[in-house]
Amino acid sequence: MTYETLLEMAYEATKKSYAPYSNFKVGAALLTEDGKVFTGCNIECASFGGTNCAERTAVFKAVSEGYTNFKAIAVVSAGEMFTYPCGICRQVLNEFAPDIDIILDDHGTMKVINLKEMLPYSFGPNDIR
Ligand code: THU
Repeated sequence: MTYETLLEMAYEATKKSYAPYSNFKVGAALLTEDGKVFTGCNIECASFGGTNCAERTAVFKAVSEGYTNFKAIAVVSAGEMFTYPCGICRQVLNEFAPDIDIILDDHGTMKVINLKEMLPYSFGPNDIR
């Protein structure tokens, strides 16, 4: 699975986005360590706090199916500009995959950033004692 293909799968997932309030359609494609891909889209809610980002949709789908080891996640929006994961999604990714590569796209220009760069001095599972 190339990161280019992962981006394509993330764009495909934007088509399922339910974003009637923001009209900001986001898609994610999460690659597990053993090569399986889980996609996700953002799902909004009239009570805005119930909204779920595309990244967390993908992670929750994977975890609920028994997959907890992740190598990379592609995150895109329909506008094709770099879409960085929000703080909550960075924290959730850190829970399972502090070393995950985050793959972004701006009109065909790929950017790969490791979560460690995006979430320095993180708080994670090993910090609860
Ligand atoms: N959103 C995501 O799905 N992922 C992000 O990383 C940024 C924000 C969604 C949440 C909401 O549905 C919309 O984009 C506007 O914030």
